Amino acid sequence: MDKVVIFGIEHIYASELVESIRRLEGEVVAGVLVGEPKWSMTGIGCLLQSEEVAPNLTEHKTVVPQINPGRRKERIALAREMGFARFGSIFDPTAILPSSMISGLGNYINAGAVIGSFVHLEDHAFVNRAASIGHHTRIEQFGTVGPQVAVASSCLIGRGAFIGTGATIAPSLTIGSNSVVGAGAVVIKDVPDNTVVVGNPARVIKEEIVGYGGVSV
Ligand SMILES: CC(C)(COP(=O)(O)OP(=O)(O)OC[C@H]1O[C@@H](n2cnc3c(N)ncnc32)[C@H](O)[C@@H]1OP(=O)(O)O)[C@@H](O)C(=O)NCCC(=O)NCCS
Repeated sequence: MDKVVIFGIEHIYASELVESIRRLEGEVVAGVLVGEPKWSMTGIGCLLQSEEVAPNLTEHKTVVPQINPGRRKERIALAREMGFARFGSIFDPTAILPSSMISGLGNYINAGAVIGSFVHLEDHAFVNRAASIGHHTRIEQFGTVGPQVAVASSCLIGRGAFIGTGATIAPSLTIGSNSVVGAGAVVIKDVPDNTVVVGNPARVIKEEIVGYGGVSV
């Protein structure tokens, strides 16, 4: 596997990417610090402040460890400003991927996820630990699926939508752009854009939000 630069390595979620890269027998060639460290970062040989980035570093495959879709987009924009342009994907080797999967730039599929046939991941979509994504589902740009989520077949997870831990999405539903599905929700009808739903069956608790954690994609 390629040598990888983790841009924004201080974020606690970077630890997940580090583990996946190690399982892939890849190498974290450098971690770029964009803020205060939030985890121990043990075993990362080269830690750099953003102002120390040399031009040759920007040639490497780069990943951005932000679970929040809007913050991920902001960080990618910052990385681009600094010359990083090769946003690669990380597919944990313990995930089960179909040969028919279509994927874009900067996707992350974490450990134990199971991806159905003809799933389409647009750029910068993330699928977390042990999530199951039903066949013919499409996750639009920056769409983010939490741990142990079950997405049934032929769903559309909209741009920047965030699906909380352990939620279930029934078949052929649309989760609107920048919407949030709460942890453990059971979604049985479409969710409009910019809406938060929770519970079983899922009900709307907030409308006209800008995105998860107040950050839009
Ligand atoms: C849905 C969520 C985003 C709501 O956060 P919020 O907008 O700050 O909402 P609040 O905490 O103000 O809660 C609003 C109401 O919804 C309820 N609620 C919030 N989350 C809920 C959930 N997951 N299931 C059921 N009810 C929930 C609250 O109890 C509260 O009810 P009340 O008004 O009767 O007191 C959040 O609770 C959540 O589930 N996040 C998912 C996080 C996650 O899974 N992350 C994965 C990381 S890898």
